[in-house]
Amino acid sequence: MSGESAGGRFLPRERDWHPPALAPDYRSSRLRSPRAPLLSLPSTLSEETGPVFGHVSIGELDHDLVHNYAAAGASALGPRILVHGYVRDQSGRPLPHTLVEIWQANAGGRYRHPNETYIAPLDPNFGGCGRCLTDADGHYRFQTIQPAPYPWPNGPNSWRPAHIHFSLFGEAFAQRLVTQMYFEGDPLIELCPIVQAIPRADAIDTLVARLDMDAALPMDMLAWRFDLVLRGRDQTYFDNRTEGL
Ligand SMILES: [Fe+2]
Repeated sequence: MSGESAGGRFLPRERDWHPPALAPDYRSSRLRSPRAPLLSLPSTLSEETGPVFGHVSIGELDHDLVHNYAAAGASALGPRILVHGYVRDQSGRPLPHTLVEIWQANAGGRYRHPNETYIAPLDPNFGGCGRCLTDADGHYRFQTIQPAPYPWPNGPNSWRPAHIHFSLFGEAFAQRLVTQMYFEGDPLIELCPIVQAIPRADAIDTLVARLDMDAALPMDMLAWRFDLVLRGRDQTYFDNRTEGL
């Protein structure tokens, strides 16, 4: 852990910002949501301090889904895109060296997963998983394939908007975030019961990546900007604060 990241307890989760466990239009939440009120337990030392990841655990192509599953000299099919952004905590402090993992369907809307049943074909050169560490400014960057929407067995004609799943560890387990990124302008966002389980429109807006032409690679990739905010700690930090104090 870096010196400036040690310190106070994490702020409580904002329950009204996150979706409720029971969202009846999201069918599977009806059976799996708890019936009793949630209990808040104090976090433990290991939840406040672990985990720590090093660069040695990240492979050279882990951030590059266009190539990380492809045969030598080949690349995945579909629109090539760059997805990037900053990871910060609630007080705006960048989170460096944070593990960011993503997984997604391919350009036809199909996952490489044993339980996948959608008729769209697999791409032999696309695995659909990637990971990277944020840099010293909290910036992350992936290159991948634009995923397609796909149908799912929720209602008679339910489709997920195009999305990329994200998992972030932050600098401690208490900051763990698993979420989904959507694409600006997708008309399926407002039809999706998973998205619409989130009670506040401004919270939904934080899950929508923006087209970022300044970061696009000419004649190669469009770019999408997606920033993420993890829980903050309840004290002010100073760059000259030494670890453990
Ligand atoms: Fe998905």
